[in-house]
Amino acid sequence: MAERPLVAGNWKMNLLSGEASALAGELRRALEAEPETAGAVEVVVCPAFTLLAAVGAALRGSAVLALGAQDAWHQDRGAFTGEVSPPMLLDAGCRYVVLGHSERRRHQGESDGLINLKLLAALRHGLRPILCVGETLEEREAGRAEEVAATQLRRCLEGVDGGAADQVAVAYEPVWAIGTGRAASPETAAAMHALLRGELRRRFGPAADQVRVVYGGSVTPDNAGQFMARPEVDGALVGGASLSAGAFMAIVRAARVKRG
Ligand code: PGA
Repeated sequence: MAERPLVAGNWKMNLLSGEASALAGELRRALEAEPETAGAVEVVVCPAFTLLAAVGAALRGSAVLALGAQDAWHQDRGAFTGEVSPPMLLDAGCRYVVLGHSERRRHQGESDGLINLKLLAALRHGLRPILCVGETLEEREAGRAEEVAATQLRRCLEGVDGGAADQVAVAYEPVWAIGTGRAASPETAAAMHALLRGELRRRFGPAADQVRVVYGGSVTPDNAGQFMARPEVDGALVGGASLSAGAFMAIVRAARVKRG
């Protein structure tokens, strides 16, 4: 793994601006008070669109905490009511964008093809995608977990070349583990990460080693250490636990083990 481990907080559709700035400020201060932690882990928070300005202001000039969005459209401007473009996200101070989250695949019917367009657009603008892939419970029970996750990855990365590999992160997020309190076992996660790494090598060649493959789905301070202990796991995408500064910081600290 070329880069530092990545721990990203997906705040989903939570918090109002006052709460969001307070949480961002608290995280910033906690990280600044622990330079060894902040230096060892790349930490990102992904608030809802309406909160980006307030959180961006709380993080301005910060070297310890980066801003990300939860989605982006694939065109720069125009008649796309309700959408937000990569240039708008950059303008708001974002460096990262979560793409293909299973909640968007499910509720907004996002296809791999659409996610691929979004990912290409993000990369074109220098916004770093955190691409989510993962199987449902039915797919896992039918023995199709590997095929589903690998196919999503392949289709969403169509047309991306090895030169962009270091800009891309992949989150393995089994749908059955998200928000359920039922995380994948570290062994299951490690096996799926190894599979995804193989898929990345087929696409990117040796540059695939630059891609961080993080785990998401009911990550908590209690289980984070077990995931981070696996060499296949390069960090975490955290939902519920990222809404508490204390819990999120504990997960960030757990990721320090990746740097010895
Ligand atoms: P969770 O969400 O940590 O609340 O399970 C993870 C995610 O959806 O990214």
